Formats: sequence, structure tokens, C-alpha cells
Amino acid sequence: MRVLIRTAATITDREQQACFALWDDAFPQPAGQTRPPDFAEPTTTALLIDDDTPAASAATGNVLVRDEVATLVAACRLRDRVIMVAGVPVRVAGLASVAVVEAHRGRGLGTWLVHLATDTARVHGYGWSVLFCSPHRQGFYHRLGWQSLAGDLHVGPPTAAHPINPAEDAAMALSLTQVAAANRAAWRGAPIVFPDYW
Ligand SMILES: CC(C)(COP(=O)(O)OP(=O)(O)OC[C@H]1O[C@@H](n2cnc3c(N)ncnc32)[C@H](O)[C@@H]1OP(=O)(O)O)[C@@H](O)C(=O)NCCC(=O)NCCS
Repeated sequence: MRVLIRTAATITDREQQACFALWDDAFPQPAGQTRPPDFAEPTTTALLIDDDTPAASAATGNVLVRDEVATLVAACRLRDRVIMVAGVPVRVAGLASVAVVEAHRGRGLGTWLVHLATDTARVHGYGWSVLFCSPHRQGFYHRLGWQSLAGDLHVGPPTAAHPINPAEDAAMALSLTQVAAANRAAWRGAPIVFPDYW
């Protein structure tokens, strides 16, 4: 297994199509619905470790894991977002679309991928990573140290934010630094506004 780590390289069309195929399989859309438009967001592959990009500049992209013959076996997305926590803007690494090809599940790849993504975000200076997932998937992330956000959670632009339905979406956060961890209490039960889903 090798990890493709590239900095600010535009994802190739072939790689993007492989991601779409993986995500279509892992997150089947209800009949008649297409995949969310942000899946088509222009993207780069992920990033860093050996690069000297200034902190918190470009830790966004797709993390692709490929096997020996370069077939995609797992992928996720990282998105740079600013959310409002109790009225205070906080820059977060939005984690999304964590998926492992079915035949490769249950061997630690998903865990490894999430760690890779959050380590990546930490290296780029993010204090927090935040994700949305199906409520039944929270257990997977709890095991990795993520905490479910509970309280007054809204999605959308400030003038038109709507409440998140906890029966459909769970919002979760992981502190990536000691400073963030020390500030965790400020998030507990705080009103949080997300500019959009990711
Ligand atoms: C979730 C997913 C990424 C996990 O990938 P994976 O490679 O199987 O993960 P790992 O092998 O690292 O870990 C699996 C472990 O998590 C556990 N786990 C998986 N889902 C869980 C859940 N909902 N609650 C609690 N534990 C869960 C498994 O039982 C397994 O435990 P074990 O290590 O004791 O056997 C994969 O199942 C997947 O792609 N699912 C479809 C897409 C999806 O739901 N993505 C997450 C939402 S963003």
C-alpha cells in the first residue's frame, strides 16, 4: 500500500472519477438524488508533511490511498472552513467523505486514513477538525477520540441558517492541539454555526 502525498497538485480527472465511484458506492444517494454539488468542488490531492507551506494555508484536498497497482482503496476530503463557536470564528479542517472500498474494510485502513487526515491538518496549523456523519457512524469516530457536538447547531449563511437535525446528521469535533483541547469546554453546548456542509 502506498500513500499518494502531493502538494497543491490538481487532482487528475482519473483520480477524481475514482473518488466519485468510491463515494457513490460508500454513500449511495436516495433514488432520484445526485451527489451533493460540493463533491465536484475543484480539488487538489493532499499535501504536506515534507512541504514548507505556511501553516494553515492549503491543507485542503483529497487524501487518496492507492494499492500497489494504483487502484484507489480509500479516500477522504479535507476542507478549509471557518465556523462560529459561541459567536467566535474558528478555522477548522473539515473532514468529509471518509470511505474505504468494501473489500478492504475492517483492517484498520479507515482508522489510518482518519489519522492521516487529522495529522495533516495539525501539521498545517489547524487546532480543530470537524465532520458531519450519519448518527450510526459516531461510534467509529468516538473510538478515534472525536466528540459529538450537542447543542444549538445551525448550518447556512448567518441570515439563513437552519438547525441541524440530529436524527439525520451528527456533528463531531476533534481537538488537534493542546491549546484547542484546553479550550474544549468553550465548545460544550455552545451555539455553533457552520457556513455549509462539507
Ligand atoms: C467507516 C469506514 C470508513 C471504516 O473503514 P475501515 O477500514 O473498515 O475501518 P477500520 O478497519 O479502521 O476500523 C473498523 C473498526 O471500526 C468499527 N466500526 C465501524 N463502524 C462503527 C460504528 N458505526 N460504530 C462503532 N464502531 C464502528 C468496526 O467494528 C471495526 O472495529 P474493530 O477494529 O474492533 O474490528 C468504512 O466502513 C466505510 O467506508 N464505510 C462506508 C462509508 C462511511 O460510512 N464513512 C464514514 C462516514 S463519513
